[in-house]
Amino acid sequence: MKTIIEPFRIKVVEPIRMTTEAERDGVLRAAHFNTFLLRADDVLIDLLTDSGTGAMSAEQWAGVMRGDESYAGASSFFRFQASLRDITGFEHILPTHQGRASERILFQIMAGPGRVVPANAHFDTTRANCEATGARAVNVPIPEAADPRSRHPFKGNIDIPHLEAVIQEAGPANVPMVIVTVTNNTGGGQPVSLENIRAVRALCDRYKIPLVLDACRFAENAWFIKQREPGMSVRSVRSIVREMFDLADGATISAKKDGMVNIGGVLLLRDAGLVQRAGELLILTEGYITYGGLAGRDLEAMAQGFQEVVQEDYLAYRVRTAEYMAERLLKAGVQIIEPAGGHAIYIDAAHFCPHIPPAHFPGQAVVAGLYRTGGIRACEIGSVMFGGTLPDGTPRPAPAMELVRLAFPRRVYTQSHFDYAAESIAELFAKRATLRGIKIIEAPQALRHFTAKFAEM
Ligand code: F0G
Repeated sequence: MKTIIEPFRIKVVEPIRMTTEAERDGVLRAAHFNTFLLRADDVLIDLLTDSGTGAMSAEQWAGVMRGDESYAGASSFFRFQASLRDITGFEHILPTHQGRASERILFQIMAGPGRVVPANAHFDTTRANCEATGARAVNVPIPEAADPRSRHPFKGNIDIPHLEAVIQEAGPANVPMVIVTVTNNTGGGQPVSLENIRAVRALCDRYKIPLVLDACRFAENAWFIKQREPGMSVRSVRSIVREMFDLADGATISAKKDGMVNIGGVLLLRDAGLVQRAGELLILTEGYITYGGLAGRDLEAMAQGFQEVVQEDYLAYRVRTAEYMAERLLKAGVQIIEPAGGHAIYIDAAHFCPHIPPAHFPGQAVVAGLYRTGGIRACEIGSVMFGGTLPDGTPRPAPAMELVRLAFPRRVYTQSHFDYAAESIAELFAKRATLRGIKIIEAPQALRHFTAKFAEM
């Protein structure tokens, strides 16, 4: 088979400022070993996140010029609404400025003290917004999800018997929704099968509980279903996407991922009463229901982006990028979550630095090392992100894995950028014994990874 090429040409370029390892050492110390505190100018290859970091298409930029900035009822809103209805089949489409704004509204109207919200895995903002209402966020992934080497094709799946046990223990009346995160970001960008979503749906029907998708990466998930699920290869990604949404009563979407935009979000609900209450909260803090905290031009970019992301040549290239990186890293001896995720590769930091215990944050040590060695910015997804204490002061349960995520911006980097990144990671792996543990100097109570200050031990 021939090389799968980037299915686009480049029309506008952004220069990268080259730096030396010595320069980066100084910069890293000044940023207290937290890559969120770096200036982007000091980064060579920015794999911190795939969120809002993608390149827009010529058609999206054309939409930006067409943006109708009317306060209410702008034509851009109706284009956005029509595009989202076409992709998801939902009638009620609320725009928000990003995913967590959708989450805040959703949890405010549906969660609350004493309630329990199960998911395959809550993303950090999802968990924080859930907990902020006094509810408890519970993860019920299949056991294979915690084994980096397991090549289960749908490691994002929910453990159905475990989900049922959680519902029975909490009492169905105290479970306001079940969340299925597609793909499962914190668990390695792993997909959820259609069969699993159908099984969650059946269970939700039995207990009369709404099913909500955290659908940030719905198109990548549908691509994996098409590739891996028996009988699905003949179906179009569009039809698989549609069935995923058809199974849900609601969805939160950060359009900064598969919406292919730099800012934007969506909240989808079927129940008219909930739509009404969500609209009221939207107006209270985001903006009117036809713009939701966005400009008309942002709605245009989303209208186009949601159509581009379901193009199958794009998805083939997208997922091949992650697979390519996975192959290179495994060959160098670096353990990652196998198989590759859709939007990212997750390095098993516990394997990378067996000499650093979880209390000394092996993931953060690798993150620091990657920046120093290669100017690569990555993100820890382990004891820094998920450790600390709950709002009531009790310690959070330890995360199942110590991971470092290399997330790939959409349509931004070429194969040589990825080659350079793979070479840098292999170089760091070869000298991994020199990596030192990390300690926290200062950290906020919630979402501490964003602003915490660290020091090397
Ligand atoms: N849900 C998932 C699964 C996510 O990955 C994110 C964001 C959100 C919700 C929140 O969306 O950022 O638009 O408010 N993930 C980014 C990341 C930040 O780097 O993985 P948001």
